[in-house]
Amino acid sequence: MSHEQPDSFDATCVHAGAGPDVPGLGMQTPPLSPPIFQASVFDIPTLDLMTRAFVDDPEIYAYSRAGNPTVRALELAVARLEGAEDAMAAASGMGAISSVLLSLLSAGDRLVTTTNIYGNTRTLIDKHLSRLGIRISHLQPEQIEAGLPEGTRVLYTEPLSNPTLVAADLPRLAEIARAAGARLVVDSTFTTPYLCRPLELGADLVVHSATKYFGGHGDLIAGLAVGPKALVEPARGVMRAVGSNLAPQEAWLTQRGLRTLHLRMARHVENGQVVAEWLAGQPKVAATHYPGLASHPTHAVAQRILQHGYGGMIAFDLPSDGPGGGRAAFERFLGGLSMIRMAPSLADVGTTISAPAFTSHRGLSPEDRAAQGIGEGLVRLSCGIEAAGDIIADLARGLAAV
Ligand SMILES: Cc1ncc(COP(=O)(O)O)c(C=O)c1O
Repeated sequence: MSHEQPDSFDATCVHAGAGPDVPGLGMQTPPLSPPIFQASVFDIPTLDLMTRAFVDDPEIYAYSRAGNPTVRALELAVARLEGAEDAMAAASGMGAISSVLLSLLSAGDRLVTTTNIYGNTRTLIDKHLSRLGIRISHLQPEQIEAGLPEGTRVLYTEPLSNPTLVAADLPRLAEIARAAGARLVVDSTFTTPYLCRPLELGADLVVHSATKYFGGHGDLIAGLAVGPKALVEPARGVMRAVGSNLAPQEAWLTQRGLRTLHLRMARHVENGQVVAEWLAGQPKVAATHYPGLASHPTHAVAQRILQHGYGGMIAFDLPSDGPGGGRAAFERFLGGLSMIRMAPSLADVGTTISAPAFTSHRGLSPEDRAAQGIGEGLVRLSCGIEAAGDIIADLARGLAAV
């Protein structure tokens, strides 16, 4: 019996990283569920192998900070889902993002980001990378269109920004980056390869918080960087040097999540569209931000860069009547909910909400938050995989309390 690599995205989700795909297993009858190589160090029989392990061959294992077969199985599976040559896993999304940025940037180089990016990525860049002499610009798409500032080495964006779901024109950004000799790095956490394959749209590297849709069950923290070997290896080098490696147990759980990614995403997306259309018709909702609504300012861009729909994330504004009004409305809304939980994360099978002004984007100045449209009454909704009617019924209870 031969084991061909599966063709479809769905079969790759289910089968990649299991059975004979597990690196280092070498068994004639491998387990269908991949084993967890719970080892910090490996028995290396020759100096030749020892040398190769330390000259960055990701499939010779010596020490789990540098590489582990369970982690490698996950890396190879995600590389396949993104249509990439290689991937490297890290202990969190931030571990992957920081490894990538540190591998690409040196003192004096410039990093340009689109304005609307995940708050902790902004904190990493503004508070920490800036101290290393890396020059920073956060620019609106119109400003980027006018050309990247001199010395730009990296252009960083998210296909759907957190939290207001602004879609980024990835092919255009790739063109602008290429013309300036810069790399385009894309955080595809909200979209996953089910909705968007940034490398096919011109990106150089993709990063993920696997804590979100890849894991999907709120029980792990993990991250990945995906792309050509020539760019993944330097990021892996930083990850190994700083020690932000992913543990085997977490890699295994992430892999388990991947096996249902395609099914979960289909329901997240279906619910996202139905719930957003319902919210947009509610008198107590001041504005609904969802790229699948024709009214969304980047609906046309989203149509071009996404496949299979517009995702499971929605943001909406509760009405605010003056200072403190948004916060008071949020608290009343939260008090009215019964099924939906408030949690500072997203992408779980269960629907959750969060308050970006108080969590993910807390570290930004009030002016920066205002520029991104993040008021105290902004609700970020992560549609789970319940029936859409369950989510709508609970949102209706919340809105009735506002
Ligand atoms: C878009 C995005 N990128 C990166 C991260 C960071 O991921 P992690 O919490 O796994 O470090 C998050 C976390 O919320 C996120 O939403």
